[in-house]
Amino acid sequence: MPIVQVEGFSEPIVTDAGRRLVLAIEDAGIDILHRCGGNARCTTCRVDILAGDPGPMTEPEVERLSRLEDRTPSMRLSCQVQ
Ligand code: FES
Repeated sequence: MPIVQVEGFSEPIVTDAGRRLVLAIEDAGIDILHRCGGNARCTTCRVDILAGDPGPMTEPEVERLSRLEDRTPSMRLSCQVQ
C-alpha cells in the first residue's frame, strides 16, 4: 500500500494502490485544488515530490508541465500520479 507524507501534516496517508494522489490527499482531509477534474489542464493540483518514486508521467502531464515557466524538477500533477 502506498504511503504519502504531506509536509506540514503529521499523519501519513495510507491509500490504495492505483488511487490518484490528488484523491488520496483529499481523502485525508487536506484541501487541494483540482479545478479541471483531473484532466492535466489546470495545474492547480501540482505538488513537489520530495522523496520516493511517484512513477512515470502520463503524456498529458508531460505536455502540461512543459508549458510552465516556474516548473521545478520535483513538480508533478497529483491528478496524474497513481
Ligand atoms: Fe487539473 Fe490536475 S486537476 S491538472
